[in-house]
Amino acid sequence: MEELEFIRPPAALAHILERMAELGFGMPSEERTGALSRTIAASKPAGRFLELGTGTGISTAWLLDGMDAASQLVSVDVDARFQGVAREVFSRDERLTLAAEDAISFLQSQEAGSFDFVFADAMAGKYEGLDEALRVLSAGGFYVIDDMLPQANWPDGPSKTMRWLSPH
Ligand SMILES: C[S@@+](CC[C@H](N)C(=O)[O-])C[C@H]1O[C@@H](n2cnc3c(N)ncnc32)[C@H](O)[C@@H]1O
Repeated sequence: MEELEFIRPPAALAHILERMAELGFGMPSEERTGALSRTIAASKPAGRFLELGTGTGISTAWLLDGMDAASQLVSVDVDARFQGVAREVFSRDERLTLAAEDAISFLQSQEAGSFDFVFADAMAGKYEGLDEALRVLSAGGFYVIDDMLPQANWPDGPSKTMRWLSPH
């Protein structure tokens, strides 16, 4: 796509993509999604950000790239192996906290209104636990969902079946 020529990716992205390919992770966010997330992150100085579904850290890299020095990002994933790439790449970035746990349990443990931007990129906090995800959002905060259309690479399970059967 032509517009992608104007998007400058975060410095860490190339390395994460390499590691992602080595590990066989097949659900990365697209560049345009990353660019949008980065822009939203930049609009919230000293913001508190939450990412549901770290993967190997691609969208994490975009979010960190938009955040100022006073912002904080918590990124949650059940898969510690894939998340380990982000842990290694961003080990020196004190703005980032990585949580290796289920997103619903994480959301339930958080205060209401504690995040200014929730980037929902796991089934949990999107198709399951939506109320929990919205509960942690602050007034005026952004809730952004990735992958609203059914994806061929989604894992099997009730969410996949539900989304394929539903026209909306
Ligand atoms: C679409 S991928 C995330 C991609 C990532 N944001 C990126 O840009 O590369 C979805 C992620 O959600 C994680 N996941 C699935 N179920 C989860 C749950 N219940 N809680 C937390 N993470 C979950 C998967 O391990 C997977 O890494």
